[in-house]
Amino acid sequence: MRTNYCGDLRLEHLDKIVTLYGWVDRRRDHGGVIFIDLRDRCGIVQIVSDPQRTAESYPQADNLRSEYVVRITGTVSQRPPESLNPKLPTGEIEIYAGEIEIVNAVTKSLPFQISSLEEENVREDLRLKYRYLDLRRERMSSNIQLRHQVVKAMRRFLEDEYNFLEVETPILTRSTPEGARDYLVPSRVNEGQWYALPQSPQLFKQLLMVSGCDRYYQIARCFRDEDLRADRQPEFTQLDIEMSFLSEDEIIELNEGLVAHIFKQVKNIDLPRPFPRLTYAEAMDKYGSDRPDTRFALELVDVSEILQDSGFKVFSGAVKNGGVIKVLPIPEGNDKIPNVRIKPKGDLFNEATIAGAKGIAYVRVRENGEINTIGAIKDNLTPEQKEALLTKTGAKPGHLLLFGAGDTDTVNKSLDRLRLVIGKELGLIDENKLNFVWVTQFPMFEWNEDEKRLEALHHPFTAPNPEDLDDLSKARALAYDLVLNGVEIGGGSLRIYQREVQEKVFATIGLSDEEAKNKFGFLLEAFEYGTPPHGGIAYGLDRLVMLMAKENSIRDVIAFPKTQQASCLLTEAPAGVDNKQLKELHVASTFKPKKKSEE
Ligand code: AMO
Repeated sequence: MRTNYCGDLRLEHLDKIVTLYGWVDRRRDHGGVIFIDLRDRCGIVQIVSDPQRTAESYPQADNLRSEYVVRITGTVSQRPPESLNPKLPTGEIEIYAGEIEIVNAVTKSLPFQISSLEEENVREDLRLKYRYLDLRRERMSSNIQLRHQVVKAMRRFLEDEYNFLEVETPILTRSTPEGARDYLVPSRVNEGQWYALPQSPQLFKQLLMVSGCDRYYQIARCFRDEDLRADRQPEFTQLDIEMSFLSEDEIIELNEGLVAHIFKQVKNIDLPRPFPRLTYAEAMDKYGSDRPDTRFALELVDVSEILQDSGFKVFSGAVKNGGVIKVLPIPEGNDKIPNVRIKPKGDLFNEATIAGAKGIAYVRVRENGEINTIGAIKDNLTPEQKEALLTKTGAKPGHLLLFGAGDTDTVNKSLDRLRLVIGKELGLIDENKLNFVWVTQFPMFEWNEDEKRLEALHHPFTAPNPEDLDDLSKARALAYDLVLNGVEIGGGSLRIYQREVQEKVFATIGLSDEEAKNKFGFLLEAFEYGTPPHGGIAYGLDRLVMLMAKENSIRDVIAFPKTQQASCLLTEAPAGVDNKQLKELHVASTFKPKKKSEE
């Protein structure tokens, strides 16, 4: 019988006879004395065996190899002063192994070293193929445990302090529009019909409010078939929340309490509250992004007014066509960023063009307010314009001003990219900071150029600001996102709870009455049976844990994630299926494998 976990043993257990199960992290032979680092979920403890003191276990100790599963019984002893290990929580003790049993051996060579004491530089595809081994490693094991602690703190706060009820919602359901493609599941029983996996439990949680549930939460799996990035997986987990009868401010306050509780419980960090808030308009103006990283300044400055009449056509043309001219002022940028990086083929030029910009204009500020730039700008800048430009951007000698001019969206996107790259490069980001910010008052809709129609920025169930009902197409939404260090970790809104308003919003995004009834008739109908005002939020659990674990990818906080190509290297999903199965599902594939010559 196991008496203790390896990582839990301390001086207080001195002289105790313990039985441990674990994996051999490392085995070292020091001239006849064998040291074994025995590892389990809780940590590592040192086991000692030698022919004199533990003659019985010595032959077995000699046979042990990395990752063997063993049972060890022995006595907890104090380590001699010269072998204390302050890096290990168990570093003051060791165990003399009276008995060692090999429970299971390793019969193949390991694809990579597991011990955290080894250099860590393992290819990710190898880690994912042998994920069960990867999860044994300290970094991953502690990430998964951290994730558990976060969920536990969430549950305790919501259930014990605020009376939330956890309710499960269906996985086989109808499409819930959150802006991504659906994963579809064919129905065998209902020929020719399809379920969609939920992109979120949005509609069900609203229906739960209609049901009188009052406060709902769920640790909910969501499925979205979209392009993957470091912070996006095709299936991911939300902490999904919905509440009745609360105002936007009350919802935000409750959620700050939740987030503060999580950080206190899990990391013993006291977060200052209230969290700062920016309206969407302010965020776009200052940072060019609706998820600004506020750990560093480098704020954008709109200089459209100053330069709209400039003889430099790129500037004046931008404003004439309804766009803007904005500047990213970089202190000491003159020394740090040479022209080759800004000009065509330069890395910063490339960053800007990825975001759609045609190039980057620049001005270098020298001593006495002299400036250096291309002739086309310098020759067209009046002394007043130059003065106003330097004043408005706060530029001092040494400053480099990078310009974006064009349509607002492209300017914001390109300067946002440059701001992040340069902020990082110049070491302006304090990695220990936790900068939360609420972004509020999003627009209800944005223009979808491909489909030539408005689409909901959040989702079409978000309530419009009552002040903006006259022209819904330009209305602000009662929506809020929570951003941490430039990552959107959560988003939510107050919801529409009146049929007429919901119908108007559907009409605005181009849904005919017929389509609205067909897709969301059940919701519209529910609104007629006494629906309370309600609102909610969903957090990306993976993203939150990623930031708490200081990882760069959510794959490192998900036990069995998918690759960028949405496949699981461990089980080799997705995979082909038998024709028989397809037939039963009334499905035929139109996929034609490429001929060798086409590859
Ligand atoms: P939204 O679509 O903003 O809102 O999602 C909420 C949060 O989920 C996380 N997230 C993701 N995480 C990993 N991989 C993905 N592919 C992914 N997509 C989103 C983000 C995001 O902030 N039903 C609404 C919530 C509501 O209105 O209450 C919703 O799903 O952290």
